[in-house]
Amino acid sequence: MTKHNNHLDRAYQLDTPDETRDFYADWAATYDAEIAENGYATPARCAAALAQFCDSDALILDTGCGTGLSGVSLVQAGFSNIDGFDITDEMLDIARSRGIYRNIWLAQAGAPIDMSRGPYDAIAAIGVIGNGAAPLSFFHDIVNSMPTGAHFVFSFNDHTLEDPTFEAAVDDLVAAGAHELLFKEYGPHFPKRNMNSNVYVIVRL
Ligand SMILES: C[S@@+](CC[C@H](N)C(=O)[O-])C[C@H]1O[C@@H](n2cnc3c(N)ncnc32)[C@H](O)[C@@H]1O
Repeated sequence: MTKHNNHLDRAYQLDTPDETRDFYADWAATYDAEIAENGYATPARCAAALAQFCDSDALILDTGCGTGLSGVSLVQAGFSNIDGFDITDEMLDIARSRGIYRNIWLAQAGAPIDMSRGPYDAIAAIGVIGNGAAPLSFFHDIVNSMPTGAHFVFSFNDHTLEDPTFEAAVDDLVAAGAHELLFKEYGPHFPKRNMNSNVYVIVRL
């Protein structure tokens, strides 16, 4: 274990939005290094999945963009029109410095998702929903505010999948008939830790 490997071990024990925000604020400076050491694979998988369904000029909202690693993967997959927000200013400072986001802003956990800079062709929540980050209500907020025809790419990691309510929310959404599941694939999340994730793409009908 290296000097960076201490936040990741604690990330799955967060409870309240304040605790989550403070935790990511404290992690911001070392996040990229620690994540890279563990071979963070989910952003590239999400970006490649989205690229199967959206043109490269799609306008994307990268929710919970953190330091912008998810945005970097979207850019590497060919996308260039990307807005992002996060609840943690310290993470956003790093994302801003990458110069890859068209608009980037600080949001409050639990507040309505600001879609006013859209309409968005796609919404991303990469490594954002589940145990250690945003609650399931964030998933519902996104799917309820997606414009018709918009795509939603997101991931649930193994810790999140241990709680059946997350997968059940996807199944219930698709069963309700207003969203279609286009893509679902289980694969590497942190390969250095033998940890995996599901990547999903949903479209609003
Ligand atoms: C594991 S990081 C992922 C960041 C980035 N998407 C990536 O792939 O590197 C989780 C991010 O979700 C953000 N977050 C946690 N709760 C949130 C919420 N309720 N709404 C929006 N973002 C949230 C955190 O501040 C953090 O930056």
